[in-house]
Amino acid sequence: MDALVIEGGRALRGSVRIGAAKNAVLPLMAAALLADGESHLRSVPNLADVRTLSRLLEHLDLRVRPDNGGLLLAADAVGGREAPYELVKTMRASVLVLGPLVARFGSARVSLPGGCAIGARPINLHLKGLEAMGAEVVLEHGYVDVRAPRLRGTRIVLDIPTVTGTENLMMAASLADGTTVIENAAREPEVQDLAACLVAMGARIRGAGSAVLEIDGVESLAPYDYTPIPDRIEAGTLMAAAALCDGDVTLHGARLDHLDAFVVKLREAGAEVVDLGEQRVRVTSGERRTGVDVRTSPHPGFPTDMQAQFMALMAKGTGNSVITEKVFENRFMHVSELNRMGADITVEGSSAVVRGVPQLSGARVMATDLRASAALVLAGLAAEGTTVISRVYHLDRGYEALEVKLAALGARVERIRE
Ligand code: UD1
Repeated sequence: MDALVIEGGRALRGSVRIGAAKNAVLPLMAAALLADGESHLRSVPNLADVRTLSRLLEHLDLRVRPDNGGLLLAADAVGGREAPYELVKTMRASVLVLGPLVARFGSARVSLPGGCAIGARPINLHLKGLEAMGAEVVLEHGYVDVRAPRLRGTRIVLDIPTVTGTENLMMAASLADGTTVIENAAREPEVQDLAACLVAMGARIRGAGSAVLEIDGVESLAPYDYTPIPDRIEAGTLMAAAALCDGDVTLHGARLDHLDAFVVKLREAGAEVVDLGEQRVRVTSGERRTGVDVRTSPHPGFPTDMQAQFMALMAKGTGNSVITEKVFENRFMHVSELNRMGADITVEGSSAVVRGVPQLSGARVMATDLRASAALVLAGLAAEGTTVISRVYHLDRGYEALEVKLAALGARVERIRE
C-alpha cells in the first residue's frame, strides 16, 4: 500500500491546474449507457473511482477506451445488467448504472451498497423513485432487482435532496413515457452538468439547478461529446491548503461560482480570494483573525465534501470554531487523527468543537475516507516535522496526483510504498 510522507512547514507558491470533477464524470460515464453509439467524454481525471466505474461499464459490455485525456464509451452492444458486489462495495457511485439500465433495457440487478465509512448511505430514495415510475423492485440475496418494460413519468417528492438519487432518476426519466417531476431535487453543479449533457443528447429537462426538475421523456437519446465541469472539491482543497500554508497560489480552470458558500467561510478565516477571470483564482493566506463556524448542507450550502479540509484549516491558528455535519451521520473520522497531530478537537453529536492551536506536529496517521485523507494532507503540510499518511488509496479515489501538484507549489511531499 502507498503512503505519503510530508515534511511540513513549507510555504505554497505558484500555480496549479484543476482537473475535471470526479462527481460530474461518474454520472456522465453512466449516461453513456442511455444511447446507442459512442459517447466522448473529454477530460477525465485519472482516478481510482473512474477506473472502478470503467470496469463496471465493461462488465455491462460497454466498450471504454482512453482518448487523449478523455474517454470513448461505446454502448452499442450492452448486454450485461448486473452491478456486482465487488464493484459496488468499493464505490457506491456504481449505483448510477441503475437508472440508465432500467430506462433503456427494462431491467437491472445492483448489489446493495451497504454501510460505508461515512455512514449508512442507503439507496431507498433511488428505489422509491423508480417504483413510483412503475418499476418492480425486489430485494434478494443482497441485490436489488429492478424491472420495468417502460418507465412512466410521474411526480416524485424526495425526502432528502440526494445527489446520485436525483441523477439516477433524471437519467431514468429522460427515457420514460411522459413527464416526470422531481421535487426537492439536488441542486449541485454536478447534477446541473449531467442535465446539460442529457439535454445535448436530446433529453427535455427543465429546472436544472433548482429544486424542481421537469423531464419530458423521449423515445431515444443520441451519444454525447461533452466536457465536464472542473472539480470544485479539488479546487477548494487546494484553496484551503494555500490559506493554511502561508500560500500565494493561483488555480487555473477553477469555477468560483461553484464554491460560493465555501469561499465566504475561507474569507471569514482571513484568506484573500481574488477572481482573476477566465477561471483563474488567486488565494493568499492573509491574517487569521478568529475561528469560523461552519454547518454543512446540500448545495448551495457549505459542501460536506469540504468539511474535513476546513476543519484542518481551523485546527491551526487563533480562535474556536464549531463545525456541524448535517449531511452524513458519521463523518468525523479525521478528528482522532488530527488530534494525534496536536489538534484540540472534541465531537459532540453532529458537531465538532475545534480550538485552534498555535502549532500542529507531524505524526503517523491513517486515512479513513476520501476527504478525511485530504484533511490529513493539509494538516501535514502545515505541521512541524514529518507526517506519514498511510492508506492513501482513499485519497487516490478522488484526487489525481495531489502530491505532484502540491510538490510543484513547493511542498515537500513524496509517495512511498509501505
Ligand atoms: C454524493 C457525492 C458525495 C457527496 C454527497 C453529498 C457523488 C458520486 N458523490 O454522494 O461526494 O458527499 O453527494 O453531497 O456524487 N440518503 C438516503 N437515501 C437515499 C440516498 C441518500 O437516506 O436513497 C441520504 C444519505 O445517507 C445522506 C444524504 O441522503 O445522509 C445525502 O446523500 P446523497 O446526496 O445521496 O450522497 P451521494 O449521492 O451518495
